[in-house]
Amino acid sequence: MTVVVESRLTGIPVKRGKVRDVYDLGDTLLFVATDRISAFDYVLPTGIPRKGEVLTRMSEFWFEQLDVPHHFLTTDLSEVDLPDDTDIDLLQGRSMVVRRTQVIPIECVVRGYLAGSGWKEYCRTGTVCGLPLPEGLQESSRLPEPLFTPSTKAEEGHDENISFEQMVETVGQELSEKLRDLSLKIYTQGADLARERGIILADTKFEFGLLDSEVLLIDEVLTPDSSRFWPESEYAPGRGQPSFDKQYVRDWLIDSGWDRNSPPPELPPDVVERTTARYIEAYETLTGRIF
Ligand SMILES: Nc1ncnc2c1ncn2[C@@H]1O[C@H](COP(=O)(O)OP(=O)(O)OP(=O)(O)O)[C@@H](O)[C@H]1O
Ligand SMILES: [Mg+2]
Repeated sequence: MTVVVESRLTGIPVKRGKVRDVYDLGDTLLFVATDRISAFDYVLPTGIPRKGEVLTRMSEFWFEQLDVPHHFLTTDLSEVDLPDDTDIDLLQGRSMVVRRTQVIPIECVVRGYLAGSGWKEYCRTGTVCGLPLPEGLQESSRLPEPLFTPSTKAEEGHDENISFEQMVETVGQELSEKLRDLSLKIYTQGADLARERGIILADTKFEFGLLDSEVLLIDEVLTPDSSRFWPESEYAPGRGQPSFDKQYVRDWLIDSGWDRNSPPPELPPDVVERTTARYIEAYETLTGRIF
């Protein structure tokens, strides 16, 4: 099976993230989801076949489902002008064309459960992003209500959690309220749908952009790379939850003895195979569609 860990389009400016290659087509952008996978903040040297396609099709599904203006245009590359020597077969299925917007420099995080940096902060101070929470919550506890916990979009290193007031200082009161309300609305819509399919959407990150003063949902949406999905059947508060997609990878990396402070090792074929199967399962379970 082909694995795409890097794409190439002759002569087109590109920005490579951990997982995606983003090409600048002028008024539009071409998002190519590669098969790269990251864990513990490192991109692994081994790709996961089909992962890029799964993530692209999942985002497409959510853009169709969610009740919000968005940047998504098409996944059909015959509709765009690409350089003559482009290997369309390699890109088709893993790529989407979106409207280019002015990115609003805030990561709009919504948390429905206590995990990750939220859990760490709660242990220290009883708050999440400065918002006070009831006492006695456990790791992975469901929150009384979903919380909007914005963070900065750092060019380098880690995004930093900020308070709503700090967000207001950056983008203004009106836009902050709008992004908060939209984020909570689409988190709830997505979480309800996932729940019907036996999946908990613990938390997620949205990004928004401005186009002709209209606010659009941009980037990828409700994929395992931007969200924590937990299988409901295995959910139990009081501990970390198995991740729907990356658990085999994380478990294997931990057992491998890798120090998480140096280039990560290649994954063995059985871990790769099982991870591909997990991504496909996540897609089919969430969307009710056959991959
Ligand atoms: N419609 C859009 N218009 C303009 N920029 C967009 C649009 N949608 C997404 N973006 C931006 O494109 C970039 C995609 O980069 P990508 O997510 O691949 O890498 P990254 O955010 O730099 O790093 P990471 O791999 O950690 O996510 C992000 O900066 C995102 O804000
Ligand atoms: Mg990103």
